[in-house]
Amino acid sequence: MTTTAVAHPNIALVKYWGKSPDTDNRPASPSLSITVAGLKTTTSVEPAVRDTVKLNGELTRDQKIERFLEDLRARHPLPPVAIESRNDFPTGAGLASSAAGFAALITALDTAFELDLSDDERADWARRGSGSAARSLLSGFVAFDPEADPMIETIATPDDWPLDVIVGVTTTDKKSVSSTEGMERSRMTSPFYREWIDANRGDFDTARRAVDEQDFDALARVAEASCLKMHAVMLTSAPALVYWNAATVAAIHTIRALAERGESVFFTIDAGPQVKAICTRWSAPAVRRALAEVPGVHSVIDGRLGLGARVDRDA
Ligand code: DP6
Repeated sequence: MTTTAVAHPNIALVKYWGKSPDTDNRPASPSLSITVAGLKTTTSVEPAVRDTVKLNGELTRDQKIERFLEDLRARHPLPPVAIESRNDFPTGAGLASSAAGFAALITALDTAFELDLSDDERADWARRGSGSAARSLLSGFVAFDPEADPMIETIATPDDWPLDVIVGVTTTDKKSVSSTEGMERSRMTSPFYREWIDANRGDFDTARRAVDEQDFDALARVAEASCLKMHAVMLTSAPALVYWNAATVAAIHTIRALAERGESVFFTIDAGPQVKAICTRWSAPAVRRALAEVPGVHSVIDGRLGLGARVDRDA
């Protein structure tokens, strides 16, 4: 009676940072991501006498999951459920664990309890759990436009453009301010917030074109700009959201130096201090070596473009 689904985190190249006010967690702007194999969340569900959540082997109370189940139950017949979820990478440290978690959870629940959700309904439920989770439902390069129909779309598969992703892990500590809280703080206090939201659609369109044309340099330019703009908004929030540490900054310099020497690589950073280097397969060995040598980078995770969330019948 157990159903298991797996999902990978995704990394945004055009970021979302901000929710539409008075909505149920709807992102205020479009975003574009890559789904990253090499890091994985495995989530099992089964009927139970009451709801329980086990995360990485420990029973926990998770308000986001409790609210998610309550909302889902208001619309679909869902019995009490035992959820067990495991990440093979650090949880809550800016590696999109909640995105992979909610993508795997809605995929497992849909199959286990025959909810018969359409693709768009699954995306809508995933993003209610965590704004970026809808993107982990799909493979490769994913465009997520909350205003569009369909909301999420694979615009290039991992085979179309097989880029590598090398993550420099600078800490495994949990982030100090959650994304939800940070976004609200930025919306209320950053003088740049409005410009940031208004500029996002232009970056989204530019990135889409770069992916369509497989133009690495154009994608690198727009992705780094989107990342730095988002961090400018974070840094100008009050109190300031400083997600970087010294190793984050050192890794940025290392990646920029590699790019200047002719390697095809760019960086992106989310609401945490890890640095993600996106590169061609040809440049990957040099990028891996250089990132591992950055003072403060204590491990390097190898990723590549991967598949969307799916039920794992062998689990
Ligand atoms: C910085 O989707 O984690 O990674 O809805 O509060 O769970 P919640 O936020 P979440 O925010 C992701 C923010 C980001 C940028 C991005 O992935 O687009």
